[in-house]
Amino acid sequence: MLENKNILIGITGGIAAYKICNLIRLYKKSGANVRVVVTPNALNFVTKLTLQTLSGNEVYVDNFEIDEYKPEHIALTESDIFVIAPASANTIGKLTNGICDNLLLSTACAFARPILIVPAMNENMWNNKFVQENMTKLKTAGYEVLEPASGFLACGVNGIGRMREVEDIFEKTVAMFSQKQILKGKKILITAGGTREKIDPVRYITNSSSGKMGIALADNAYKMGADVTLISTFGVEKPYRNIVTPTALEMEKAVKENLSAKDCVIMSAAVSDYRVENVSEQKIKKQGGELNLKLVENPDILKEICQERINLASHQEAVAPLEGEMSKGQRGVNIKPYVVVGFCAESENLIENAKAKIQKKGCDYLIANDISRKDIGFNSNENEVYIIDKSLNIKHIEKDTKENIAKRILEEIFE
Ligand code: PMT
Repeated sequence: MLENKNILIGITGGIAAYKICNLIRLYKKSGANVRVVVTPNALNFVTKLTLQTLSGNEVYVDNFEIDEYKPEHIALTESDIFVIAPASANTIGKLTNGICDNLLLSTACAFARPILIVPAMNENMWNNKFVQENMTKLKTAGYEVLEPASGFLACGVNGIGRMREVEDIFEKTVAMFSQKQILKGKKILITAGGTREKIDPVRYITNSSSGKMGIALADNAYKMGADVTLISTFGVEKPYRNIVTPTALEMEKAVKENLSAKDCVIMSAAVSDYRVENVSEQKIKKQGGELNLKLVENPDILKEICQERINLASHQEAVAPLEGEMSKGQRGVNIKPYVVVGFCAESENLIENAKAKIQKKGCDYLIANDISRKDIGFNSNENEVYIIDKSLNIKHIEKDTKENIAKRILEEIFE
């Protein structure tokens, strides 16, 4: 699986360091060339000789320990992947601040290929505000992270912070190598979250969408090489473009303004079908008895962009005979047959309703999910979906994490 891949392992000072001996064996068995760089503290937990024997290569500790100075950190960056495991809170903190006071850190700083961080530490350290902020920074910057598991920790307590099993690290490495860049060169617009329609300055109408499904789609599309624009009802810190639109009207405007030159639009946001006609400028006082709010219909963004596509196509047909008279730069301006993917949230008759909805909306694919279930759909970490195409063919994707479901959806549509 990893034949001829050059894997660089970075070991920092933590008790889980001893487990990396088995990881080296797994990598070697599957055909990889393994090199190891350690922090000086890592050698308190595992010996240089053991790592050298298992990897079959010299183990790197310090830039300055050798007689003739060579910039080892630059040579080490020629590896295909850098797996830092266990990654201590100290190394994570330095990494996120660009500190390079040992060979492992200088190598990570200069490393331009994928880096996988596998943290391991005491539960309180893991939950520490600054450590969590650093983890967010790493993810935002595009580092892959294999989050720690819960279990018995070396400090004698049960809790989160345990380094993931070496088999998980191995599988994650394989998955990173097999990540196909199927969306390279594609521009994708994705919506996420539940819109919030104001009633007055303190109250609003919304739904239970957490945005997790849409963000998982955006993250995966980005990893697959796409140029991603995420339009969401709340802000996220990501390495791709993010436009925040709390209401349906704001989302409609942003989607239309950013539609030009897109290859695909995925509407996973839960857009409110109605908004309050007259939003009160002041907080509505309790008056006793009923409160009547008049709701008016919001635009159906998905339906509108599908209609816009039909208009563009007929415009294209109309201008085609004139193309000979146009200058090269004028031809086909803003006219692009983007793929439209809608979502469908149903609490009953999922497939029947989804089939009717794809025809009504006019999109190419509709992703149907059952929102009556507590374990999937709204605000859960998992989902189970049916992909329905224009010819009403159905593909079932079984329950999985939203990250994996998003990956499968993109693969099904684009491969
Ligand atoms: O955000 P999570 O907590 O992770 O939950 C994910 C999800 C359940 C929100 C997601 O998987 C999902 O189903 N999203 C669509 C929710 C929805 O609004 O479904 P709908 O069946 O009401 O709408 C159908 C489609 O039309 C959707 O693509 C929706 O974005 C779009 N729509 C709806 C209303 C409207 N006024 N304009 C629209 O564009």
